Amino acid sequence: MPALRTALDAFRAIADPLERYVFLRHLQRRDTSTFYRALVAKPLELMPFVYTPTVGEACERYHELPTEVNGVYITADDAGRVGAKLREHWTTKMAWLREGAGASARGVSARGTGANAGEAPVAVAVVTDGERILGLGDLGAGGMGISEGKILLYTVCAGVHPTTCLPVCLDVGTNNERLLKDPNYKGLRRERLKGEAYDALVDEFMRELRAWQPRCLVQFEDFGNANAFRILEKYRTTGPCFNDDIQGTAAITLAALLSSLRVTRGELADQKILFYGAGEAGVGIGELIAMAMEKTGMTHKQAMERCYFMDSKGLVCKSRLSGLQPHKVAFAHDVEYQPDLLSAIDAIKPTALIGVSTIGGAFNEDVVKAMAALNERPIIFPLSNPTSKAECTFEQAMRWTDGKVVFASGSPFDPVTRQRDGVKVFPAQANNAYVFPALGYAAALTGASQVTDDLFLAAAEALSKLTTDSEIDAGHLFPDMNAIRDVSVALTAEICEMIVAQGLGSAPRDVSTHAEWLAYIKAHMYDPNVTTAIPSKL
Ligand code: NAI
Repeated sequence: MPALRTALDAFRAIADPLERYVFLRHLQRRDTSTFYRALVAKPLELMPFVYTPTVGEACERYHELPTEVNGVYITADDAGRVGAKLREHWTTKMAWLREGAGASARGVSARGTGANAGEAPVAVAVVTDGERILGLGDLGAGGMGISEGKILLYTVCAGVHPTTCLPVCLDVGTNNERLLKDPNYKGLRRERLKGEAYDALVDEFMRELRAWQPRCLVQFEDFGNANAFRILEKYRTTGPCFNDDIQGTAAITLAALLSSLRVTRGELADQKILFYGAGEAGVGIGELIAMAMEKTGMTHKQAMERCYFMDSKGLVCKSRLSGLQPHKVAFAHDVEYQPDLLSAIDAIKPTALIGVSTIGGAFNEDVVKAMAALNERPIIFPLSNPTSKAECTFEQAMRWTDGKVVFASGSPFDPVTRQRDGVKVFPAQANNAYVFPALGYAAALTGASQVTDDLFLAAAEALSKLTTDSEIDAGHLFPDMNAIRDVSVALTAEICEMIVAQGLGSAPRDVSTHAEWLAYIKAHMYDPNVTTAIPSKL
């Protein structure tokens, strides 16, 4: 495969991460099949340059980059014609695949799909409004980079045909002064839409998308937390959709916790979790952990009382109830208020500390050592992204705990050689890509009427079980990312079966057993080396 080798050599010759990102974006347009071949062959090496952490800088500088836009912008000025804009975009994309892309888009052209690209369905749409991009805040129209980055993981990880993937950015303006003052910024140069006008645009988008593509799975991504929880509540029972920051993060973190307990030999019911940060990620994780704890026999209240949250004002507790945002209320327990992290650790005595605060360096030496003093093997997950926002690094966590930490981070870190025995220990990366592509694809394949939290719980449990003992021993709390396609097939099959068993969706004809699901999913996985048909169920 000389094209693949040449592309990888050229990629490796570039030192700057953002230039690597641009190189891969050009490859995606110029030679789509080689682009996917490279990502499928080397996901661990390449994913950080199409997604987190590099995508953060790409979104910040999106309007300056010499790249073409792959997704569709729905702007505040499109109100009243959102459906037409979606269809126009899709028609243009299909025409590009049929004609323009020709040989360069082998495997995604009409010829390559085994279907008429003019009629290709939309299986998955990833949509953001750019208000809370990773831990970087409001990046306005630059949020498109997130939708584009995340959607291609559906193809790389779960084999969803790229012809059926739609990245969307709702450009509703921005409150980012830097962007508003930048003469080259290409998004709407005005304050963010809010209130009824904002809700009406989101509603028109959802209605029109559903009317046009009823089975399409919608993934909400990087909305600000004032909108994220509301939007999820409003649409979660009206069709297949989920919010990856809330629900996908919850599943990957619960999987990391379950794997951690294989290291500490602890029981889930005995854990006390302290979250630093009480936003979408934290509250989503807390609710899913509580669901998992309820399965051990606890009441809902008892399970919720195992999860404690700190926000920028200190410990979330009953005495603060009147001023709390709605999503934090269920975690406002009857405990004494603590103003800072160290005093909260002292009062609560957590077994696990999870960072979802976007405050880089918040887990300092005193904090990490306090966790190590309480626990033989402290579980510490600094999940904030990108790398600059991580609450601590892997090297720090290892040094300050004498190598005893059980660690997972949001962005990747290098392995560390443990001082006391010279063993090389790997950090785990709680990468949502282990879960959302498989789960979203399962919803699309089965035509699920909705995506329930039960599915995220099942995905977390299944993912932890797919991690081998030797992977756990080496520090990885997840299976090898280079085997992500095998992992995704197993998870997709499991979730498809569950959706069908719960009566939320249906199976293709002649598919009912686990083995038949595995065979069906494998047979329809997009393979950039050969012609792959779009599943007839989509
Ligand atoms: P968010 O904006 O909804 O929440 C951030 C929370 O941090 C808020 O509750 C805020 O009050 C709190 N906070 C801010 N300053 C604080 C301080 N000084 N002390 C304590 N708390 C403080 O953001 P979201 O969606 O919850 O994401 C948080 C971080 O988690 C981001 O950096 C994001 O990239 C990362 N993340 C990581 C994932 C992963 O590792 N797989 C997945 C999703 C998010």
